[in-house]
Amino acid sequence: MQKITVKKILSKKNKTPITCLTAYSKTTAQIADKYCDIILVGDSLGMVLHGMKTTRDVTIESMILHGKTVKKFSKKSLVVFDMPYRTYTNKYIAYKNAKRVIKLTKCDAVKLEGGIKVAKIIKYLVNKKIPVMGHIGLLPQSSTNFKLKGKNIFQKKKIFQDAVAISNSGVFAIVIECVVESLAKEITKYISVPTIGIGASKYCDGQILVIDDMLGLSDFFPKFVKRYSNLREIIDKSIKNYTKDVKTRRFPSSKNVYK
Ligand code: KIV
Repeated sequence: MQKITVKKILSKKNKTPITCLTAYSKTTAQIADKYCDIILVGDSLGMVLHGMKTTRDVTIESMILHGKTVKKFSKKSLVVFDMPYRTYTNKYIAYKNAKRVIKLTKCDAVKLEGGIKVAKIIKYLVNKKIPVMGHIGLLPQSSTNFKLKGKNIFQKKKIFQDAVAISNSGVFAIVIECVVESLAKEITKYISVPTIGIGASKYCDGQILVIDDMLGLSDFFPKFVKRYSNLREIIDKSIKNYTKDVKTRRFPSSKNVYK
């Protein structure tokens, strides 16, 4: 089993699609690690696990707890830690936080949301030997509307410039979230680092989804999610049967009892 490195991810550009998923727990990390190049400890955990309205309420301490677990149970994948809202407001704050996060969680890289606005911060972190993944297009930490981006020429130009700016700052990959296909295609063709799409078409160099969405565990159904399972239904049936068994004294049976 070969550990996936940043260099390996970069080498996949224009060759093999890069497989990524989020994970927040021991079990999902262990399973995703078998198949994925990158595991993202995403701040989406605020919404997915804790029912928060936005990712802005996610604290660095809760992310560190999940980051430690995911990294501990991932042996092969590159584990990326999503820097939460307001933890990278300038390059010094970003470095202090990212250094602490890497030290405590042992994650391989961090992810920052934003384009031109955070380009200098990214450059500073990369110069300090912290690998950074970028994130452009729809930015959950700063966006108030969860709408498709890049529909008009102004947005297209801005997102394209964002991609170029952070690519020049030294990111090893860029997540492109919820943009029109033509823009994702153009960016992927133009920049030298891999693009990882989420709602950004097959033209990206890789794909990422939030694990609870693709497993059918969340109640979030945007068009860009393909559901590979319906865990919500499976869990519902299991819990229903369990409570029925308890009420009818069918559980515990002789098989579950110590004599
Ligand atoms: O937090 C997250 O899960 C993310 C993905 C949507 C890319 O940033």
